[in-house]
Amino acid sequence: MSKWTPTKISALKGKEKISAITAYDWTTAKLVDQCNIELILVGDSLAMTVLGHENTLPVTVDEMLHHTKAVVRGTEKALVVADMPFMSYQARLDDALLNAGRFIKEGHADAVKIEGGAERAELIGLLTTNGIPVMGHIGLTPQSVKAMGYKVQGKTDEAGAELVKSAQAIEQAGAFAIVLEAVPAELAERISASVGIPTIGIGAGDKCDGQILVIHDLLGLFETFIPKFAKQYAQLGKATKEAIAEYSKEVKDGSFPSEDHTY
Ligand code: KIV
Repeated sequence: MSKWTPTKISALKGKEKISAITAYDWTTAKLVDQCNIELILVGDSLAMTVLGHENTLPVTVDEMLHHTKAVVRGTEKALVVADMPFMSYQARLDDALLNAGRFIKEGHADAVKIEGGAERAELIGLLTTNGIPVMGHIGLTPQSVKAMGYKVQGKTDEAGAELVKSAQAIEQAGAFAIVLEAVPAELAERISASVGIPTIGIGAGDKCDGQILVIHDLLGLFETFIPKFAKQYAQLGKATKEAIAEYSKEVKDGSFPSEDHTY
């Protein structure tokens, strides 16, 4: 199987559901890349899942680049999308272009993701015109946590209509896909039908063109809180603690290392 490109991902709309997942390091990216996943997002969620911050706001471009490079090294097939962190694209268009360019030029990512609706259309146009593929992200946008909290978005008719308009503006600006986070399933279906590019849902029901999950949620590694939309396909947090406790016990009772692990 050859490498996924933004064009190939867009072409899956209406044909096959897109499965996407986050990854933040080389080991995980290598595992994910063997599992029929079309798109890996180096999400700024790593601020919380890997770096232990309270929210995604503190992570920097340099930190995101460090993780993006590791993921790219571990990936042969999936499209690698780097998340542009808070304040790397909001202030000025030319700074945003240079920062996005760093993810492509230094990080070797295939595309970038930016949060926000119609107000980001000009930026998306600038990036795509300069050869940088963009994935949009609307609905609950965690970089706006101070303003909106972690609440389901688009619950009123007006808010829903705004999100439809935003999705259309993002498509017209040249994005190849849009993440829809925490919106009612009926609205996500309406948004998906109103654009020609794939919608990738997280907490947005089953009618999106694809789904994305944070890998720490999927594997049961993030124990701080479990969002309603996150299905745990494994309990690696529990398994990890059991394995480490067993190792500690064997070190203390002298049963590790045995003959098998001794030169
Ligand atoms: O940072 C992230 O992991 C994300 C996903 C939740 C879509 O933006």
